[in-house]
Amino acid sequence: MTIFALRLKRYMKIKDLEFKKFIAASKIDEKISDLASHINHDYKDKLPVFLPILNGSFMFASDLLKEVKIPCRVSFVKTSSYSGTASTGQLKTLIGHDESLFNQHILIVEDIVDTGLTLGKIIEELRGLGAKSVEAISLLRKSPAREKKVDVKYVGFDLENEFVLGYGLDYDGLGRNYKDIYKAVDPLEKAAS
Ligand code: IMP
Repeated sequence: MTIFALRLKRYMKIKDLEFKKFIAASKIDEKISDLASHINHDYKDKLPVFLPILNGSFMFASDLLKEVKIPCRVSFVKTSSYSGTASTGQLKTLIGHDESLFNQHILIVEDIVDTGLTLGKIIEELRGLGAKSVEAISLLRKSPAREKKVDVKYVGFDLENEFVLGYGLDYDGLGRNYKDIYKAVDPLEKAAS
């Protein structure tokens, strides 16, 4: 295989950005088994309601829930605070929860927590609905959420501030369908590699 072909495999262009493979699907699978085993233990006999946040968490929620072996309910909900690669800070309210959440143990399923604004707002809203407990699981967590100590009970991978896509995550609506996670690369880093 030529060097050019190898570079094509490692890098991919979506709109104006170049992305490089970052977390392989096999690593995601391993992490999900581990996270699910904690949930199976912690939520045994609690009949939790999983609330995956669309669109980003659809792949993660699907794979995670296949490993959850305890009785539970699932209700996909929606909210969005992003446009492009930076948080707009504009929060919409939670829509689509058809289950009654009063007195329930809720587990929010997120793809990524960045500033924590979205998650904070969702938690506040759910507490207002009278949930018995509200916790969160996120496949990815960026450094701003760690610095602000945003309360995420289960975390898959901790990142710095890189922009990522794949495995449900998008860049302006594109890239959700990849099974691996990619990160945006600095053009200078790519030229040096
Ligand atoms: P927060 O409110 O800043 O924590 O942003 C959370 C939401 O922003 C996530 O649920 C994603 O939809 C989106 N988001 C944050 N970082 C990224 C990223 O690196 N790639 C794709 N979407 C992201």
